[in-house]
Amino acid sequence: MSYSLVNEKELTKKKYRFQQSQVISNERIGEQVYFLTIAKDPVDTVIPGQFYMLKLQDNSPLLARPLSVCEVDESTIGFCYLVVGEGTAKLTKLTAGDTVGTIGPIGNGFSPAAYQGEIAIVSGGIGIAPFVELVKHLPKANVTLYAGFSTKPYLLDRFSDIKAVHVTTDDGSSGHRGFITELFSPSNFDVVLTCGPEILMEKIVHTCQSVGVKSFASMDKRMACGIGACLVCTCKTTAGNKRCCVDGPVFSGAELMF
Ligand code: FES
Repeated sequence: MSYSLVNEKELTKKKYRFQQSQVISNERIGEQVYFLTIAKDPVDTVIPGQFYMLKLQDNSPLLARPLSVCEVDESTIGFCYLVVGEGTAKLTKLTAGDTVGTIGPIGNGFSPAAYQGEIAIVSGGIGIAPFVELVKHLPKANVTLYAGFSTKPYLLDRFSDIKAVHVTTDDGSSGHRGFITELFSPSNFDVVLTCGPEILMEKIVHTCQSVGVKSFASMDKRMACGIGACLVCTCKTTAGNKRCCVDGPVFSGAELMF
């Protein structure tokens, strides 16, 4: 069976499996924002920050969609996604009992055991998704979330027991009106983790570098194969070009060259 730009042989070579996963639920949770839950293969071990490639049964649109893992437990995997085009619009039509093609988990995710001291999470829009699972693996008393949205926020109920939550919206519908970069300062933190639009991550990483604070960014590049074969998702690093899908998506801010 062909899969995106990659055939079965290539998947096997790269130790990935194409599976048909059962849809448990697919709910709208915000403006153009949905939460999809699928059945998890018991053999899958998922690290926060990893993603799956999802492909609909009708093979249209041709390419699969990378979705970051938002929440995971013994038997299910949850993805929070934003409708941004034809592919994600079609994902919204999935209902309980449907099946969806999946490859994953893919990529190098976050390393929660390595994040010590005061930890800041800075997210922009749907970039908040991977942090839902990550905070379960961090000492919650040390985590402060700075979350920016264009309009009404989502997923914040999953962060109710961390140290502090700061919210901004572009339209002022919740929290501070403006950008999350206006509220965030790295000076009181030991580690900063960020995910969202590239322009946000660039600013956060550079601000952290200017005061000597460690940062890690989960890069969100366009992807085609999702398994390291097509080089569509390349990003520049101090060690040369790397593939966001399999070398990332999480990189140290120190190695990223925006
Ligand atoms: Fe093909 Fe990353 S998406 S190499």
